[in-house]
Amino acid sequence: MENKIIVKHSQYIEISRIPDGHDGVISVAENHKNIPFDVKRVYYIYDLNNPEAIRGKHAHKKLEQVLFCISGSCEIGLDDGTTKQTIKLDKPNIGVYLGIELWHTMQKFSNHCILLVLASDYYNASDYIRDYDEFLEYIGKERGGQ
Ligand code: TYD
Repeated sequence: MENKIIVKHSQYIEISRIPDGHDGVISVAENHKNIPFDVKRVYYIYDLNNPEAIRGKHAHKKLEQVLFCISGSCEIGLDDGTTKQTIKLDKPNIGVYLGIELWHTMQKFSNHCILLVLASDYYNASDYIRDYDEFLEYIGKERGGQ
């Protein structure tokens, strides 16, 4: 498990953590302040009760997202087609930016894990690349290959 993100098109995103004495904490995400795009869609993933579950397993052509694990913890697999790494998300104010052309997975969900995702565009099934070989072919073409 690495602390530093080394794959392309990804980075940790740290947002505020405003404690209110013993009465809880507020974290705030704002367009272009700590989220590097205009958020058009928010979704969240929960009831992650299957310990074997592996979500994601796709890349996006144009969509950018920031993913926060706002309860519990999970692992995120990142793969830019050359470099692969796995990170752990376990703090509600430290998320991960998932840029374009980045194969990603989400797995090892703890009890009560909830993932909050901020996305740069509306849902569009044709923006997904769900086949790994197709992903490699797509990024090869984008980089000027065959
Ligand atoms: P998917 O993005 O594949 O989930 P994950 O990456 O977490 O494994 O989406 C799962 C299903 O939900 C798929 O049938 C598409 C649907 N979906 C929508 O209809 N709208 C959305 O905004 C999202 C994110 C998914």
